[in-house]
Amino acid sequence: EKNGYDHFMLKEIYEQPDAITDTYRGRMLVDKGIIRMAGVDNNLEKFLNAKRIIIVACGTSWHAGLVAEYIFEDLARIPVEVEYASEFRYRNPVIYRDDIVIAISQSGETADTMAAIKLAKEKGAFVFGVCNVVGSSISRETHAGAYTHAGPEIGVASTKAFTTQITVLSLMALKMAKEKGSISKSDFHLYLRELELIPEKIEKALQSNEHILEVSKKYKDASNFLYLGRGFNFPVALEGALKLKEISYIHAEGYPAAEMKHGPIALIDEMMPVVVIATRKGHYEKVISNIQEIKSRQGKIIGIVTEGDVEVRELADYVIEVPDTVEPFTPLLTTIPLQLLSYHIALMLGKNVDQPRNLAKSVTVE
Ligand code: M6R
Repeated sequence: EKNGYDHFMLKEIYEQPDAITDTYRGRMLVDKGIIRMAGVDNNLEKFLNAKRIIIVACGTSWHAGLVAEYIFEDLARIPVEVEYASEFRYRNPVIYRDDIVIAISQSGETADTMAAIKLAKEKGAFVFGVCNVVGSSISRETHAGAYTHAGPEIGVASTKAFTTQITVLSLMALKMAKEKGSISKSDFHLYLRELELIPEKIEKALQSNEHILEVSKKYKDASNFLYLGRGFNFPVALEGALKLKEISYIHAEGYPAAEMKHGPIALIDEMMPVVVIATRKGHYEKVISNIQEIKSRQGKIIGIVTEGDVEVRELADYVIEVPDTVEPFTPLLTTIPLQLLSYHIALMLGKNVDQPRNLAKSVTVE
């Protein structure tokens, strides 16, 4: 049941610290510097010899795949392609026997993802599943896999499934990186320690709830929203926009911040709230210039920033802080305020946040 929360979605947002702890418990032995994942350990040769990873998924799970692309390439130095299952299955894709196909699905029942898996198997690829629902069709159809252990997700808008998927995929990337020697021992240990701290940092990020409620009041009547992010946080921009669309029915688009000037900048005026993920990492200075471009066109800026940030605060209409962490794990924190923002806006507009119109929890039609 809802455990005192008004909606399943809110409950599931608040469950994320525990859910992520459940995801890495028993798999990540921080003091020993070991990652144990049966599905990977039992197929280690395949993982180490693979020339490429192809990720197939839909919706929010596809966004988790995009975050994973950045993490795998950065840490494990293996090329990754991320495909919508529905496109992949219908376009006669090139799949080699030494490809690893990773299928991501909360429900484990998504029809297009299932069809993509069958196709990959026919072509001789090794297929690995990242599912939440234990014993689901996809978990049975794949050669091996790792469960997210997020517990049941009832809200149609996916929240804890997303962050636990990123956690499983991060563990896999770290394990491969260690085995391949593509990151130093000290970085490996640093990442393990940082991943272990994510649940308490999410706890901290959740404390901005009241402030996010204020921001939501201010922009709930907008007809459009733009979400911008770069690098690891570009997929978070896509996910933030999807979350708002599906439960508030406000049109929203996610974009890589630097692409804005190639088109979407034309949309910006004083009516357009722009959510910019601007953590103090890799592309920070670049994102600041993107924010200036929005500001000079009177767009309203909601910045998702690292605790203690001053530069974005000076330019933005509102900032929402998240704790600092290593760059690959920032999506686990920057996602949290975006979930809460869409939740509050949808609620203020009187929408059914747990069961939005036209949507089902698992999409078993093709
Ligand atoms: O169960 P799956 O992860 O395969 O579902 C994929 C999508 O249908 C799902 O993520 C959908 O986009 C959510 N409603 C997003 O919140």
